[in-house]
Amino acid sequence: MCGIIGYIGDGRACEIIVKGLKRLEYRGYDSAGIVTGDGERLYIRKGAGRIDELVQRLNFLEMPGNRGLGHTRWATHGVPNDTNAHPHRDCTGRIALVHNGIIENFAELKEELLKRGHRFESDTDSEVIAHLIEEELKFEGSFEEALRRALLRLKGSFALGVVYSGEPDRIYFVRNESPLVLGIGEGENFGASDVPAFLEYTNKVVFLDDGEYAVVKPDSWEVKKIKTGERVHKEVKRIDWSLEMAEKSGFPHFMLKEIFEQPKAVMDAIHGNSGVIAGIAKEIAAYDKIVFVAMGTSYHAALVGKYLFQRLVKKVPIVEEASEFRYEFGDLVDEKTLVIAITQSGETADTLAAMKLAKKRGAKVLAIVNVVGSMATRIADMTLYTHAGPEIGVAATKTYTTQLAVLTMLTIETAKFLGTTEREKLLMLEEELKKVPDAISKALELHGVIKELAETLTSSRDAFYIGRGIGFPTALEGALKLKEISYIHAEGLSAGELKHGPLALLEEGVPVVAVAPTGKTLEKLISNVEEAKARGARAIVVGSSEALKRVADTLIAMPPLDELLSPMVYVVPLQLMAYHLAVLRGNDPDKPRNLAKSVTVE
Ligand code: F6R
Repeated sequence: MCGIIGYIGDGRACEIIVKGLKRLEYRGYDSAGIVTGDGERLYIRKGAGRIDELVQRLNFLEMPGNRGLGHTRWATHGVPNDTNAHPHRDCTGRIALVHNGIIENFAELKEELLKRGHRFESDTDSEVIAHLIEEELKFEGSFEEALRRALLRLKGSFALGVVYSGEPDRIYFVRNESPLVLGIGEGENFGASDVPAFLEYTNKVVFLDDGEYAVVKPDSWEVKKIKTGERVHKEVKRIDWSLEMAEKSGFPHFMLKEIFEQPKAVMDAIHGNSGVIAGIAKEIAAYDKIVFVAMGTSYHAALVGKYLFQRLVKKVPIVEEASEFRYEFGDLVDEKTLVIAITQSGETADTLAAMKLAKKRGAKVLAIVNVVGSMATRIADMTLYTHAGPEIGVAATKTYTTQLAVLTMLTIETAKFLGTTEREKLLMLEEELKKVPDAISKALELHGVIKELAETLTSSRDAFYIGRGIGFPTALEGALKLKEISYIHAEGLSAGELKHGPLALLEEGVPVVAVAPTGKTLEKLISNVEEAKARGARAIVVGSSEALKRVADTLIAMPPLDELLSPMVYVVPLQLMAYHLAVLRGNDPDKPRNLAKSVTVE
């Protein structure tokens, strides 16, 4: 995944683009580059490294001109180095572009272009597009026509920003299966992979759909179809995200800020959905075949959803990673199936593909999404938003707990509608759900304690997270957080599975983190912790029961809470532990190595 930002207006393009790149760095951070245009002249500077370092080394802020494009890269084709960094140019240097996505037929296009005498500078698939436009420009018609013809030859996913020296008054933006949104200002306009890139200047946005491109000038913009060149009517939407939401606001990292935003985010998720959830619950109550699809942290939310549905709606949903669903299972769904897709970004390639497949098979698709107007919301029949605000840290935190809040509300409403659980129990859960933001605040008070705990774990090589029932997905999520940002090997396991193999890995002092809400399997879990301790493990136990004091080497005390609501709170100390371990080990938790925020390619 990469990040694109483009600007045209009367401001200094380089300044606006550098700011945008910093806000997009979460999308990729192995190299970056900028092209600016001053009249008919194009200036390109690019290189491998983080933005801050490149701003100094390449003097990005001295680039002239009032229009330009910036790109932050996360390598897919071609190693991260100076030449593979974007922007890329054609042979004449008159066309420059930035690209996010993958051109699947780039090898054949490159071969054809090489035969026609084009010279390539990089190993990227992206550079092919610049030469292809150059080739098309040799024929009749305008630059726009040449661009369109070139786009028609591309297979794969691409979001593009394109500038041409012969047209100093405009920038082209293109979208096909990679996100691209226009920002509409006063006498200036923007294009970017994501809204925070230009949120400082405007909150008026136009979402491009697949197969569309935009011609953007300082005072106007129009969107057209790649296929026909026909104009498309687009609505300008207002995004209610503030700039502050997209900034660190005094926190050392976005991840920590986002962890601390959870009480408010969960409250917003509850309020934001209270008026709409009953209608959706009514719609979905008719379905017996329910399939959750998601990836990563959103997949863990789906697993929590499964436990909730089983307990309250008395239905057993299937939970599939979207990448598995699309190839192994998708063909078996039909019009009697409800597919619930969970995705923070609404752009995850596998999740989108799973949703499209489900729709093709006649299934009803409900999406639980954070990013307003994202692709998932346009594929789905129904959408519930998580209202978490922008999440910049690569590791998902507040978007996870808000997904859980939405799933909890949805399950309670569906159970009410179907009468599958006693009403008093459902009303009690509903009341207690309102107190979850406070419970999260209480868990956040443990910040200092967790930091001290993390200090004792910095040299751990492995960690095991165990849980049972609805605590099991929290164990998976705790382990995922730890591995992705601290780079400590971590495994999340159902506690019952421990003695079927993983127990062999336990050695003196290995941390075993037990997620132990008070509920029907607590006693069993305590026995599992004892088993682990007998092999020398250090038991770090998260829970509220007095009984845990007996087994815990370190007890992370949680406020008392119904077991079914515990996932939203119990994950918080695990997020903090992963965060502190990452920082103590010298890692940047906002930008873990090899990872990007949205996985927009397979
Ligand atoms: C982990 C993380 C990822 C995402 C996954 C799905 O912290 O953030 O595992 O959860 O890539 O992303 P979305 O939810 O955007 O579909």
